[in-house]
Amino acid sequence: MEVVIRSAAAELGAVAADSIEHLVRTHDAPVLGLATGSSPLPVYAELVRRHRAGLTFAHVRTFSLDEYVGLPLGHPESYREVVRRELTAQLDILDENVHGPDGASDDVAGAGARYDAAIEAAGGVDLQILGIGSDGHLAFNEPGSSLVSRTRVKTLTQQTREDNARFFDSVDDVPHHVLTQGLGTVLEARHLVLLAAGEAKAEAVAAMVEGPLSSFCPASVVQLHPHVTVLLDDAAASRL
Ligand code: GLP
Repeated sequence: MEVVIRSAAAELGAVAADSIEHLVRTHDAPVLGLATGSSPLPVYAELVRRHRAGLTFAHVRTFSLDEYVGLPLGHPESYREVVRRELTAQLDILDENVHGPDGASDDVAGAGARYDAAIEAAGGVDLQILGIGSDGHLAFNEPGSSLVSRTRVKTLTQQTREDNARFFDSVDDVPHHVLTQGLGTVLEARHLVLLAAGEAKAEAVAAMVEGPLSSFCPASVVQLHPHVTVLLDDAAASRL
């Protein structure tokens, strides 16, 4: 595991964007794994800046980590819309190449296996961007999630619903259920790039990097991966 510490979150975005730019320039059909939340936003801002300076994403396919269950199509806080707004609508990626778990499906129980099959059919994820929850969750794999899990429906903890309430009118509007890539699914990506900034993440980061491998810190599963880059600001690194 490579841990990179910088004083400003914007610098972390540039480090991640360098890896993504290399992938995009050297692969014919690169597959990029996208995450939501505030942590990846400096990366997305940097990718948009590089696109405006001439970098094309026309040959890139993306797969998102997770999605709320039950939000109507087009809901502004559905992760499909967040990804579109924050990144893909500002690049030259084709709409049909932007994928996410289908949380609005009539068959949400079957949607997980279909999503894993779609990732596999695309040849797997080359580079997966990740954040980390304040309780150590990865994607929406809450503490106690199986370390070999596949994409499936999960129930959010109250803490995660409260953490994410800032995006909704009230915590009552935050869905209880989500479709999330499993920890086993995430581990199949060829390179994991995880970003964390701020003191609120320091404890979870220390447990992920230096704690024991445990389903009670789902992010600790990255210790099993042969190619992980962890990008931290000073505050997120303060308990290492
Ligand atoms: C959500 C997402 C995670 C993300 C986490 C942290 O729960 N499902 O993928 O890592 O939020 O979000 P933030 O980066 O805003 O702290």
